[in-house]
Amino acid sequence: MGRMRGYQSLGVRSNIAKSISIVLILGAFGFVGFVIFFYVAPVESLTVWEPEQPIPYSHKLHAGDLEINCQYCHSYARRSEMAGIPSLAKCMNCHDNLSVETEPIKILRKHFEDRTPIEWVRIYDLPDHVWFSHKRHLAKDVSCQKCHGPVETLEVNARLITHHMGFCLNCHQANNAPTDCLTCHQ
Ligand code: HEC
Ligand code: HEC
Ligand code: HEC
Ligand code: HEC
Ligand code: HEC
Repeated sequence: MGRMRGYQSLGVRSNIAKSISIVLILGAFGFVGFVIFFYVAPVESLTVWEPEQPIPYSHKLHAGDLEINCQYCHSYARRSEMAGIPSLAKCMNCHDNLSVETEPIKILRKHFEDRTPIEWVRIYDLPDHVWFSHKRHLAKDVSCQKCHGPVETLEVNARLITHHMGFCLNCHQANNAPTDCLTCHQ
């Protein structure tokens, strides 16, 4: 009996040892996997780039609720490479006549009167080796949201879509748009 019990408890003990080593090995793999994931995965795929802007301008309010057309403010998009950020004069077209005088509007007015631009933090910026043009896409009725997501729902502007090369190429392939390297790299 004593011998039996000895065997049994030894068996139990080695089972515990086995379980512990399995847990340790899985843990080690898990840890390595975790490190590799965070090392390799691009930061943008984990968090959305949503920088704090100098004043709390809301696309949801202006483009969503008030339904101001995107191209009223981004008025170069149809005719040039750039979409353009609106001048403060454009904001003041409305805000000069509105009675709201909150802190952000005071800052806006001060910039307008001092003729100092507001330094908006840029959200989209392709590397210099890539050529892009808004005009070409708008001429083919590609919507803003295809490349920027539902901007009209955002209180704070954010990069909802990352412009990897694959993102551009997938749509070009699907729409018989050019895919040779020189289209985008010149
Ligand atoms: C077509 C008219 C129009 C234009 C153009 C416009 N706004 Fe507005 N904006 C409004 C209206 C209407 C409100 C809501 C006012 C209210 O709170 O009743 C508003 C609200 C705001 C507010 C929030 C005010 C607060 O503190 O509650 C900010 C900030 C603002 N606008 C900034 C801007 C900026 C910056 C621009 C230019 C890029 C701009 N607006 C262009 C009509 C306009
Ligand atoms: C009343 C003016 C106004 C309207 C209307 C407007 N925008 Fe904007 N937009 C701005 C301002 C000001 C900024 C810079 C501040 C910011 O990013 O919030 C901006 C920034 C952006 C940016 C980021 C640019 C960058 O790379 O930094 C995108 C993309 C954009 N708008 C898309 C849109 C789309 C799509 C619509 C229509 C659904 C729209 N906007 C309507 C004023 C406007
Ligand atoms: C086919 C994809 C695509 C479409 C469609 C598109 N954009 Fe863009 N947009 C981009 C890319 C890419 C950039 C960055 C360009 C760069 O860094 O040279 C950009 C940059 C911007 C910027 C900041 C820089 C600038 O060009 O002034 C604004 C604002 C903007 N887009 C607004 C819009 C609006 C508004 C529309 C719809 C009228 C629109 N975009 C449609 C891909 C697109
Ligand atoms: C949602 C679809 C879509 C996306 C996303 C898209 N494109 Fe396009 N692109 C088109 C279409 C359609 C055309 C064809 C326009 C034409 O035939 O005139 C085009 C044309 C172009 C052209 C002009 C080609 C020429 O010589 O006529 C360039 C440059 C370009 N795209 C670059 C880009 C880049 C860079 C990106 C990514 C940041 C991008 N595109 C993302 C649909 C897209
Ligand atoms: C429709 C537009 C488009 C076409 C066509 C295209 N590229 Fe790109 N390419 C891009 C964009 C956009 C980036 C930037 C991606 C980023 O910043 O993440 C890029 C980046 C690159 C890079 C830098 C590495 C990287 O991934 O950022 C290389 C190298 C490259 N492209 C090579 C090529 C070659 C070779 C071809 C032809 C087989 C080609 N590209 C065709 C849009 C395009």
